[in-house]
Amino acid sequence: MKDLRGTTAVVTGASRGIGVYIARALAQEGANLSLAARSQGDLEQVRAEIEALGVTSIATVCDVADAADRARLLARTEAELGPIDILINNAGIERVRRFEDSTEADFTDTLAINLEAPILLTHAVVPGMLARRRGHVVNIASGAGKVGVAYGTSYCASKHGLVGFTNALRAEYEKSPVGFSVVCPGFVTDAGMYDRWEEKGVHAPRLAGSSKPEKVASVTIDCIKRNRSEVTVNTPPVRPLIVLANAFPAITPFLLRKFGYTKSFEQVIAAGID
Ligand SMILES: NC(=O)c1ccc[n+]([C@@H]2O[C@H](COP(=O)([O-])OP(=O)(O)OC[C@H]3O[C@@H](n4cnc5c(N)ncnc54)[C@H](OP(=O)(O)O)[C@@H]3O)[C@@H](O)[C@H]2O)c1
Repeated sequence: MKDLRGTTAVVTGASRGIGVYIARALAQEGANLSLAARSQGDLEQVRAEIEALGVTSIATVCDVADAADRARLLARTEAELGPIDILINNAGIERVRRFEDSTEADFTDTLAINLEAPILLTHAVVPGMLARRRGHVVNIASGAGKVGVAYGTSYCASKHGLVGFTNALRAEYEKSPVGFSVVCPGFVTDAGMYDRWEEKGVHAPRLAGSSKPEKVASVTIDCIKRNRSEVTVNTPPVRPLIVLANAFPAITPFLLRKFGYTKSFEQVIAAGID
């Protein structure tokens, strides 16, 4: 989809963090925005900021893990903004835990929000996109969707699932005008969940590099315009690490320890970050 002017875009997780940057970037391209998250006050502030950019925007309080909320979000979007052209599955949570200390809810919540909700939202919007022969879905996964890191069992399972889901869709709809992309950011500074770790004194390993939320947003736009498949967003060191880890899975734990990932996640647990 080359020209986003006048399109209708749904962005989940738009109340704070990376989702706000994605919503802003879409608005700057002329898309009308349907913003979703659970925090009404924050969402309303983002909606006002987006409208000031000259597009129409609605804000819907929605828990993406809740089927009735998802249905209400999509129905309201179509009623007030028109058929959905773009879906950005960005809402996500991460609970860093030792596997044996994780609760059942850590797994069910993470999988419901990070994986089931994107699958079911996509399932709800794709038939309309196919009928109109236009549409794009971007799933915001993570580097944790490419490599399994220590203390990230629930998050990695959800993000690996999201990468696999997107790639399966791309294969199935290869010849379709409807596109699917997955964006895999590494550590993102200035906003979002990792930025909150930094505020509590936990830093990503120097070798891991990082990226800005504006970059994740611009890559997301590029994915829609050029139907890109899977994009890792990070400064260079992470890409070779992912390639190596996937080529030689037996040495992945060693690589992650040497790069300093394992220690950083141990610091997240020690700092009591939820
Ligand atoms: N920050 C990073 O370094 C980084 C790196 C790789 C990937 N990512 C991915 O990027 C995405 C955005 O992360 P972020 O860093 O911006 O996180 P964040 O600052 O914690 O924001 C998460 C967003 O998701 C929403 N959300 C959470 N649970 C929800 C639910 N049940 N229903 C609806 N909305 C919900 C939150 O809003 P409410 O709380 O108001 O509902 C918030 O708007 C996530 O998928 C994350 O996994 C982030």
